[in-house]
Amino acid sequence: MSIFEVIQDRRSIRTYTNQEVPTGVVEEILEAARLAPSGSNTQPWRFIVVRSDEARARIVQACHNQQWMNQAPVHIVCIADVQAQYSEVRELSIDEHSTEPEVKRVIRCTAIAIEHLVLQAQAIGLSTCWVAWFTQSEIRPVLAIPEDKYVVAVITVGYSENRPAPRPRKTMNEIVRYESWDGIPEES
Ligand SMILES: Cc1cc2nc3c(=O)[nH]c(=O)nc-3n(C[C@H](O)[C@H](O)[C@H](O)COP(=O)(O)O)c2cc1C
Repeated sequence: MSIFEVIQDRRSIRTYTNQEVPTGVVEEILEAARLAPSGSNTQPWRFIVVRSDEARARIVQACHNQQWMNQAPVHIVCIADVQAQYSEVRELSIDEHSTEPEVKRVIRCTAIAIEHLVLQAQAIGLSTCWVAWFTQSEIRPVLAIPEDKYVVAVITVGYSENRPAPRPRKTMNEIVRYESWDGIPEES
């Protein structure tokens, strides 16, 4: 399957079977995240693989009780570590209101790594969904994540028989301009 076919086939999936996801398979999708690009190669992403029923239930609670998440046998909690930007460890507390450029940078890079993981999961027959409906203060305590780390997303991972139709997307004309912001969309 080409990368474009993987991209075309991916959907956010919210129903999963009971089939377990072997450790080696989880490692394979984490490897795709590990290989992502990052500014100055800082690699600020960190991941917590969560399988226990109890911990997943608490993650679900922190994600505004999105009950469907419980079906996914694996939650991968994806974290941006702002300390990767500094040569010495700094005492920091960050959250959604933080305006430091470093926080934005590590979130940006971590998002790239997360989508690598999601696409590799799709390529090997897994289903996933990004979940980011939580606040730092709700989700961090669940897994004892320190206040200088930023949880970017929880990715639900599992097998599914659900194959939903593609969700709507904007047209090319709505999203692409040429040469400048005022540029006219090219005729196709
Ligand atoms: C940053 C981000 C956060 C998201 N958070 C949630 C979420 O909390 N709950 C959920 O059910 N879906 C969530 N989604 C999935 C989107 O709803 C989904 O990507 C979008 O509707 C398009 O559907 P598709 O992924 O199947 O193409 C999130 C997606 C992204 C990229």
